[in-house]
Amino acid sequence: MQIAIVGTGYVGLVSGACFAEMGVEVTCVDIDIQKIENLKQGIIPIYEPGLDEMVIRNIKAGRLQFSTSLPEVLNDVEVVFSAVGTPPDKDGSADLQYVYEVARTIGRNMNKYVCVVTKSTVPVGTAYQVKTIIQEELDKRGVNIPFDVASNPEFLKEGDAINDFMSPDRVVVGIESDRTQKLMTQLYRPFLLNNFRVIFMDIPSAEMTKYAANAMLATRISFMNDIANLCERVGADVNMVRKGISSDNRIGTKFLYSGIGYGGSCFPKDVRALIKIAEKEGYTMRVLQSVDEVNELQKEVLYTKLHTLIPNGSLSGKTVALWGLSFKPNTDDMREAPSLVLIRKLLNAGCSIRAFDPVAVEEAQKAIERSNIDPALKERIYFAADIYDTVNDADALMLVTEWKEFRMPNWDIVKKLMKNHIVLDGRNIYDKKEMSELGFTYMGVGV
Ligand code: UDX
Repeated sequence: MQIAIVGTGYVGLVSGACFAEMGVEVTCVDIDIQKIENLKQGIIPIYEPGLDEMVIRNIKAGRLQFSTSLPEVLNDVEVVFSAVGTPPDKDGSADLQYVYEVARTIGRNMNKYVCVVTKSTVPVGTAYQVKTIIQEELDKRGVNIPFDVASNPEFLKEGDAINDFMSPDRVVVGIESDRTQKLMTQLYRPFLLNNFRVIFMDIPSAEMTKYAANAMLATRISFMNDIANLCERVGADVNMVRKGISSDNRIGTKFLYSGIGYGGSCFPKDVRALIKIAEKEGYTMRVLQSVDEVNELQKEVLYTKLHTLIPNGSLSGKTVALWGLSFKPNTDDMREAPSLVLIRKLLNAGCSIRAFDPVAVEEAQKAIERSNIDPALKERIYFAADIYDTVNDADALMLVTEWKEFRMPNWDIVKKLMKNHIVLDGRNIYDKKEMSELGFTYMGVGV
């Protein structure tokens, strides 16, 4: 089968590479000429373990191609996946201009049947809007060509995207026709040979499923962060509480880790977009409003803890070391990263920062450049060469992202290098008792 995927962001590129890996002939399309030129040579714009090898392998096998022109590939394919960005508008709603532009291009250029599948996370009703736009363009041309629309939300996680795509828990597809069901079954069967878990449903339900899944996971995290903050106040240990509740099958073990708030390209954006979708319907998502509010406050939690240890007002002139900058390990993605909030708060309080991340430094520099942090203050950030260079002369160390290489540092070296022995663990990866035996003033989140 031949397919096109429009948009070479995370979702588009991973989907394209994985479909090609399964033997599908894929053309990935993007309007960014430079990006496409790089991709043709196997240069990947994002850090995602295993993706570059997979892209290069499939380019060589002739199954994966890249193009800047959807009209040129449109009439060679049966399915077009639209995986273009839906960045948040000023008010938090999803901006759909790219999704609609793809629909217009298809309507203006198609000469034979095509199934247009939306993979981007879009508000309920968008696929029908895509259908209307394509039909309007066909009507303008005075032609009558059959086509289908479908919704196939993507659930992959950054850092583990290939695994998620190759062995999905389930695939959700919103459809309107038997023809689409057949096409999607053909495409996804190889991924789910022994246990076919493609859930077909109506299109609005599929569109809603993506938001509901992300909102549910974000809710679990904010709930646990709230519980963790309370644990600290009543003398309980959130790790024990988590173990206690997660042994209940109904609750399960995943996405119950308290920390410094969720970030990334999906949870913050989708929670806010769902609140906006509801608002437009005259309904208030009260739970999700709180989920978002708790998360924003949680990003400041390490800063607040530092204040309790170094009394108010005296943070000025202190040096704080940050281990980790990306919003989570195994990615260089800085979107909505809690580290950015910490950096802004620390700099505004007069601190200097020494920061290290195994992969995300370049992206972090760009994100800091774009941020509204006072340019004069930005000078006070030093990007360190390794974990030990980071803590040199530091008054406090904050563990921000739980990369594996931060798990077992040589604490003797760290202690010798640090000026004050404060460790604030934003991901609860160190043992409280051990840390205090080693002579550190240690605080986790909820422990
Ligand atoms: C998420 C969804 O998991 C995925 O299905 C969807 O398609 C896109 O959004 P992603 O943003 O890549 O994926 O990362 P994920 O691993 O889900 O983590 C999101 C955030 O939640 C991170 O900031 C992470 O640190 C945080 N998190 C996760 C917690 O704070 N606690 C947890 O227990 C789990």
